[in-house]
Amino acid sequence: MRYDEIKGFLHGGDYNAEQWLDRPEILAEDIRLMKEAGVNAVTLGVFSWAMYEPRENEFHFEWLDNLMDSLWENGIHVILATPSGGKPPWLIKKYPHIMRTDQNRIRHLYGERENHCNSNSIYREKVLQIDRLLAERYAHHPALILWHISNEMYGTCHCEDCQQNFRKWLKNKYTTIDKLNQEYWSVFWSHRYDDFDEIESPAPHGETAVHGLALDYQRFYSDLSIDFLKQEIAAVKEYNPQIPVTTNLFHFNCGIDITKLCRILDIVSWDSYPKWHCGTDLQTEWESAVEASFGFDFCRSQKNAPFLLMESTPSNTNNAPVCKLKRPGMHMLSAMQAIASGSDSVQYFQWRKSRGAYEKFHGAVISHNGSAETRVFKDVCAVGRQLQELCDVRGAVTRSRAALIYDWNTMRALEEQKSLRRNQRGLEEIIREHYKALLKNYISIDIIDQTSDFMKYNFIAAPMLYLFLPGTADKIRQFVEKGGTFVLTFYSGLVNENDLAYECMPPYSLNDVLGLSVEETDALTDGEYNTLLYQDKRYKVSHYCDLIHDSSAEMLSAYEKDFYAGMPAVTRNHFGKGAAYYIACRPEEDFLYHFYRDILRSIGIPAIIDSAYVEDVMVKERVQGDTRYQFLMNFAAVPRIIHGIELAGYETKIIKGIMAVRSYNDFHGRVLARLPDVSI
Ligand code: GLA
Ligand code: ZN
Repeated sequence: MRYDEIKGFLHGGDYNAEQWLDRPEILAEDIRLMKEAGVNAVTLGVFSWAMYEPRENEFHFEWLDNLMDSLWENGIHVILATPSGGKPPWLIKKYPHIMRTDQNRIRHLYGERENHCNSNSIYREKVLQIDRLLAERYAHHPALILWHISNEMYGTCHCEDCQQNFRKWLKNKYTTIDKLNQEYWSVFWSHRYDDFDEIESPAPHGETAVHGLALDYQRFYSDLSIDFLKQEIAAVKEYNPQIPVTTNLFHFNCGIDITKLCRILDIVSWDSYPKWHCGTDLQTEWESAVEASFGFDFCRSQKNAPFLLMESTPSNTNNAPVCKLKRPGMHMLSAMQAIASGSDSVQYFQWRKSRGAYEKFHGAVISHNGSAETRVFKDVCAVGRQLQELCDVRGAVTRSRAALIYDWNTMRALEEQKSLRRNQRGLEEIIREHYKALLKNYISIDIIDQTSDFMKYNFIAAPMLYLFLPGTADKIRQFVEKGGTFVLTFYSGLVNENDLAYECMPPYSLNDVLGLSVEETDALTDGEYNTLLYQDKRYKVSHYCDLIHDSSAEMLSAYEKDFYAGMPAVTRNHFGKGAAYYIACRPEEDFLYHFYRDILRSIGIPAIIDSAYVEDVMVKERVQGDTRYQFLMNFAAVPRIIHGIELAGYETKIIKGIMAVRSYNDFHGRVLARLPDVSI
């Protein structure tokens, strides 16, 4: 069956059936319980290589034939993985160079998973062989709806093959060694290269000082990983191009530029494991909810389309600092949060707990006791029923007029750079603060990078956009000129794409757009604050303060302390048909909330729901044709009231409304009719 012909959401998860092949009664019971739980899609084969090919070139697929057939006969779809995430021991015994060499130049022994070298030609050959055999056999199987390529790819390798490939990649990028020397500023400490062959990837006991090199190595390895996936995708598509492909992403900082990676996928998918109930205030789960929401919004924004929640735990994980159980109500709430944010699935890791090894106590739908009379199983059944009721929401989209830039190149460059605060620039937390402030304003937010199309938004915020790729400054200029509202903050536009400082006062090439130039940036010690006044309220400012040299922009707020008291801390500049704001420092979150509220109101981006932020309540929206679904979610264990609607602890209410105008451009039109609330 085709993926897009399926009615309603996917519900299911990783089914490691290969662990139970000698227990036919368990496999039969699994299908019975899946049907009881409303499971309609399972992921097979993520770690099945050793069962497919127990010895080199000896293949056994009969067990998968039977499994796929029996799932299909029972109405359960299959997401079939390629097994490259985990490999059998015989492979490494014979070809030890497949194992990754770490940055200390130590080649790893057989063990663990997802630790192969992406340059290794034998590994590629072996993976492609098994991928082709799987595709040849199953690409037209009626149960197959999606390929799950590899598993949570991450990390880098530093072996000799990778060094050679890196040098090729560099030659291709710079053409001449002189150009590379210039961009790396390698005369510094006499690190000037005379030949590409002298270049080695960074190492703790080797090169750490050339930032352009470190950044390029990350980019090279990201490209190599993407190339590896591309080959796998091509192998399975050879047999049936109609079956879409995904790979399960799990972290923005996984060593791959995942925005770039998403371009080669048909569907984006995400593994989400927020640390529910681990905070200091056990009454509220707001911070974990924000973390999960950020991942979801990121995934949805990549293709402006629904994504899949590929893994989540129905109870606890086994790898958190404290492996808390999900409190009653949290499983439903976290599932609804994924749906509210644009997921077309709720999938779990894992269906059945393994009896041994690393994950034997990781949460699962079915525990070692095999019982359906458990709290977790009942919770999963309740989600299954709920997803069926909501089936019309499948495929609904979210149209955001606002976006936040979280940029991989900037993140990688800031990790290397030495300044501000040792070992910790705080980009991730800074981005999170701005995200939270926007989220609390109850608007839909896309999370994009500097390569994205800016023109489809009315409002873009770019906190700490340290590195500008070629063309970024022009894109910002045009965006503002044509009527957009852009917010830039401290420490933006300092270096070019190779981490080479611009010869100007930042932000590079935007001084006229912002109406200012930055002369210096002060770093504050822990616990040290400056303050600013905004709308008669005083707010704390921490960590970083830009000192503005020259400003023709309107000063919205000034620093109150230190030798730069009176200098601009927040400004606005009208440019072309739009406006460019500058936040020169890191103000507390409450400031950002109010500041963004004022901007969003002034440019007419209405909230999904007309309410000031109600503590712990998150609001999301999906739109299907002319029907809008507003999800009101309470992440507190106690009741909250928003817009006159009461939400019990951990409750989600879904308001279904008809939009005034069918056109997406106008989707923020007045709600004409309110249907009765659906309460969960
Ligand atoms: C990841 C992996 C899974 C499993 C889970 C456990 O998401 O993809 O195989 O190990 O973590 O949380
Ligand atoms: Zn390698």
